[in-house]
Amino acid sequence: MHNQSTCRVCAGTVTEFVDLGDQPLSDAFRQPEDTSVEFTYRLAVGACADCAMVQLMEEVPREKMFHEDYPYLSQGSTVMRGHFRSLAERFLSTELAGEDPFVVELGCNDGTMLRTLAKAGVRHLGVEPSGAVADLAAEAGVRVRKDFFEESTALSICEQDGPADLVYAANTFCHIPYVDSILRGIVALLKPGGAFVFEDPYLGDIVEQTSFDQIYDEHFFLFSATSVDAMARRHGLELVDVERLPVHGGEVRYTLALPGARTRSEAVAALLAEEEARGLHDRAVLGGFGDRIHAIRTDLRALLEDLKAKGERVVGYGATAKSATVTNLCGIGPDLVEFISDTTPAKQHRLAPGSGIPVRPPAAFADPYPGYALLFAWNHAAEIMSKEEAFRAAGGKWILYVPDVHVV
Ligand code: SAM
Ligand code: TMP
Ligand code: ZN
Repeated sequence: MHNQSTCRVCAGTVTEFVDLGDQPLSDAFRQPEDTSVEFTYRLAVGACADCAMVQLMEEVPREKMFHEDYPYLSQGSTVMRGHFRSLAERFLSTELAGEDPFVVELGCNDGTMLRTLAKAGVRHLGVEPSGAVADLAAEAGVRVRKDFFEESTALSICEQDGPADLVYAANTFCHIPYVDSILRGIVALLKPGGAFVFEDPYLGDIVEQTSFDQIYDEHFFLFSATSVDAMARRHGLELVDVERLPVHGGEVRYTLALPGARTRSEAVAALLAEEEARGLHDRAVLGGFGDRIHAIRTDLRALLEDLKAKGERVVGYGATAKSATVTNLCGIGPDLVEFISDTTPAKQHRLAPGSGIPVRPPAAFADPYPGYALLFAWNHAAEIMSKEEAFRAAGGKWILYVPDVHVV
């Protein structure tokens, strides 16, 4: 008998296909002296039989994840800074090319995307509930409202600033279970010709690469064109464009508009057809994904145990939210991974959630280099490997576990 829950999009029945066990909050890095019991929840994923949406079986209250101490910074990757700068420049000549345009970003974080638009003098507002990162956006000249975006926020923004040409969200919409409130708010906020553009990890890439670590508390939904299309229609919107993105291990940027306002691009039909042809939402395909996760877990543990037996040092690279799923599913602690190197100030000198692996600044990585680095930030592999050429030159090897466990 499979576990079931109620779909957050259509109230249909969600049936579980993967169980990743009890997990801590993925971004709750602990002070070493903190002896309180860590919050845990059961991390499992299911699919809705009615609307196809893939979603978590259990919801973590938003205030537990997004608060004053939320540590993640968009600025942490050079590639991502470039990605958001070029997107902002594209918006200037497309969505924001009209007279006195207004843009709202959900989850603007440290303002990485909005900085470019603020400098260009565009009317904008970032909505960001996590206090410390919102402060960084404000310091960079971005107008930010410290709040969760939901219907009431949208209505008050519309009253204050008028309607928006563009509502944008990167790696944020999939974090929000209360979609009905969000989409009602967006429909109320958008100008008739406006658009809601959002980009999030793509279910198609996650299943293809077995990137199971994209599953954690904050990633409530794993979107596909099929499920987003159904969700949009349900909420009086239309999916008019999709764009595959190489960042974060494979994402899709979706564009929603009011029905009839825009012509649907050919890319939408193509991606819908591709998902249908590969059976992305078939239970057998989703079940096969679950089986492959358990093979990765066995292989990764075996490799780390073997290296430990040989007296090799293994250090983690990138204290990603994704790494919480890997370490806690595989039972990887400081006995197998000495510490994790990470550039984020609010993660350093703390212990990674659940696993208790210490997080240290990058200087520790080279002092001296370990024999092996377990690349938790595999989605930034090209950037990191080129930055860390001296590690390879010193004889160091990278361990990757997506799409399978291998050493390079
Ligand atoms: N957009 C940035 C990027 O792509 O790098 C930040 C992504 S970060 C993973 C997700 C952000 O969404 C966090 O900064 C979090 O505080 C914010 N967030 C969560 N729920 C939100 C909501 N209801 N409204 C606006 N922002 C929200
Ligand atoms: P993300 O995969 O969610 O973007 O998280 C990447 C994490 O890896 C974040 O904590 C920052 C860290 N990081 C480094 O430590 N060094 C790097 O060169 C990069 C790109 C990221
Ligand atoms: Zn549903």
